Amino acid sequence: MLRGVLCRTEPRVLSMRCLSSAGAGSGSGGPASAERAAPGVTPLRPRPNALTDEIIRVDHAGELGADRIYAGQMAILGNGPLGKTIGHMWEQEKEHRKQFEQLIQQHRVRPTIMTPLWNVAGFVLGAGTALMGEKAAMACTVAVETVIVEHYNDQLRQIMEAPNPDKELLETITKFRDEEQEHHDTGIDHGAEQAPFYQAMTEVIKFGCKTAIAISKKI
Ligand SMILES: [Fe+2]
Ligand SMILES: [Fe+2]
Repeated sequence: MLRGVLCRTEPRVLSMRCLSSAGAGSGSGGPASAERAAPGVTPLRPRPNALTDEIIRVDHAGELGADRIYAGQMAILGNGPLGKTIGHMWEQEKEHRKQFEQLIQQHRVRPTIMTPLWNVAGFVLGAGTALMGEKAAMACTVAVETVIVEHYNDQLRQIMEAPNPDKELLETITKFRDEEQEHHDTGIDHGAEQAPFYQAMTEVIKFGCKTAIAISKKI
């Protein structure tokens, strides 16, 4: 059931239906351990396996970068016609970042040593493309979210194929993947593809994101 046809036919079809067949097993603790924590104290979980460790580190870095990209866009375009739209996406990214901050603490995962660089690079990317105009900002969003959706789908497949899938992590990543897909679609709806040098710009940004992901997995 875990590897049901629905879950494998098409990457973007990975959904909660897949999760429902993934079983209640958690490779790294689970809600039960959280329930025993004292009020106001972040509950610790058992040390994660290598896959979970890598996933939490790289996703924490990615959501930090996304938060900073939207912060950069808001700094330039926050008072314009797209301010509300970008602000909504930023709020979701802040929530993604918050949840991975929590996971990194609970599982005692070492953050990537590149954190300070991604912090600055994210803001510069968001603000820099926003300075080129609203459509360029949306092109940046499309490029980043394309890579992130693919990245999250890869992780969902890896988790589901693991011997003891972490259902909590599956649910978290599935929800975030769906929201990143919405961000991508918002970018398209707001004229990303009409941005000057759309193809070249998005290819460069995608390459940068993939490189950042590869680095953050390991160091
Ligand atoms: Fe996100
Ligand atoms: Fe996003």
